Amino acid sequence: MRAAIITASDTGYTGEREDVSGRTAREILEAGGYEVVGTVILPDDRAALAAEMARIADENLAELVVTTGGTGFSMRDWTPEATMDVCDRLAPGIPEAMRAYSLQFTGRAMLSRQAAGIRKQTLIVNLPGSPKAVRECLEYILPQLAHGLQILIGEAKNCAEVK
Ligand code: MTE
Repeated sequence: MRAAIITASDTGYTGEREDVSGRTAREILEAGGYEVVGTVILPDDRAALAAEMARIADENLAELVVTTGGTGFSMRDWTPEATMDVCDRLAPGIPEAMRAYSLQFTGRAMLSRQAAGIRKQTLIVNLPGSPKAVRECLEYILPQLAHGLQILIGEAKNCAEVK
């Protein structure tokens, strides 16, 4: 499976902050057997984020897009809205599971507005912005995503066929 990483960060985009979260996501995805085909840092701009997500899906560049950042309450946090702008179908169970799991680490997990959904044959999943949150969330969901992606791309027809 191919994965792409989008970091939403004004300061990462201008080079004021190192993109440790994107790097963390890459490490976890590669350890999970994904081929990371692209990483990009974008400003916290709804239209720019949506355009990049749509491009990856429409050009069939990756089965999985992981975003990090922009899920909180700042006036510049628009990643979930950008995701919902471009998705044909939402997959709310994924962010629900991440938030529920993350509450054991911090009550502030409830503040993440992260979303997930499908555009064409690409699954887009929002992760919070900190490297710690990326690790906690991504390591938790990754083992389950393979099953969904196999169904999405038609390699498996029903749950019984996938181990
Ligand atoms: N989820 C996990 N697993 N671990 C964390 O440390 N931090 C929370 C939350 N989710 C956190 C987490 C905090 S402090 C915030 S403000 C929100 O994610 C939103 O983060 P973002 O604005 O960087 O996307």
